[in-house]
Amino acid sequence: MIFNASGCFDALTAPDVAKQLDAYVTKTVTPLPRGGNEPVRIAETEVGMLNSIGLANPGIDRFVTEVLPRLAELDVPVWVSVAGFSAPEYAELCSTLDQREEVATIELNVSCPNVASPEDEVEQIVATARAATSKTLYAKLSPAVPDIGAVAAAAERAGADGLSLVNTLRGLSLDERTLAPKLSTVTGGLSGPALRPVALAAVFAARRATRLPIVGMGGIENGRHALEFLAAGAHACALGTVLFADPYAPRRVREELAAQLAERGFATPVEARSLAHPEGEADLRAVA
Ligand SMILES: Cc1cc2nc3c(=O)[nH]c(=O)nc-3n(C[C@H](O)[C@H](O)[C@H](O)COP(=O)(O)O)c2cc1C
Repeated sequence: MIFNASGCFDALTAPDVAKQLDAYVTKTVTPLPRGGNEPVRIAETEVGMLNSIGLANPGIDRFVTEVLPRLAELDVPVWVSVAGFSAPEYAELCSTLDQREEVATIELNVSCPNVASPEDEVEQIVATARAATSKTLYAKLSPAVPDIGAVAAAAERAGADGLSLVNTLRGLSLDERTLAPKLSTVTGGLSGPALRPVALAAVFAARRATRLPIVGMGGIENGRHALEFLAAGAHACALGTVLFADPYAPRRVREELAAQLAERGFATPVEARSLAHPEGEADLRAVA
């Protein structure tokens, strides 16, 4: 299954691309509208992209009245990514979305690495959100934590139905001539190829620590990369940064993955799932 990664693609400006996806994941929606950060908000590096968009979005009220009905017309399952500044804010976002039949899944953007205990923080947010909705609930985690397996297990304990792994890592890029930071916010989120090994390690660890289905993302650019995420334990792959260079990547990656699977004699993606895990742990493949 191929999704887009939150914030990397606008389905309403490219509906033909959205229709290539197995689910469309929205940019993160917050309780109130946010304009985002000052430009410059995107910088390229040799190994990936830095962004400091700052969760620019119309806020939940305008999102449900103006954006959601138009997304539903695409006829692709809609995953709504949400973030609040406290557990009750997440719960409020979830109870608003709970009433909307257009919403297939809520993805909690709980990528909050700068707290003393990411496990406790994630557990509290997911548990509060869980109480507010019966929709399918995914927790999207930051890889910038000491033990991603422990955070994944906390999300599972709190009632998450799945995991989205991973969000960006903090990075800095300097202007070649002036040596000043390229981004207005100095640092930003690093995505793209440099993130791939980090993301694979996170998926691998979460597969061992939980029984939850995983949407893997981080630097996926082609079918072989997608296959590696399946082998590490992912159930689905999401494409982010690659979409800026190749908007038609979903179809291409899907075809390349099918070719990779066929070449290796796998009849379905499920046969490749969790193959990176040591022998004797084949039961990991049976998850969901
Ligand atoms: C421009 C940009 C905006 C993003 N916005 C969001 C966002 O709103 N919410 C979120 O959870 N992740 C956001 N992300 C992170 C991506 O969803 C994804 O987790 C990350 O980029 C790793 O995947 P990739 O290397 O394929 O891009 C954003 C990434 C980029 C590059």
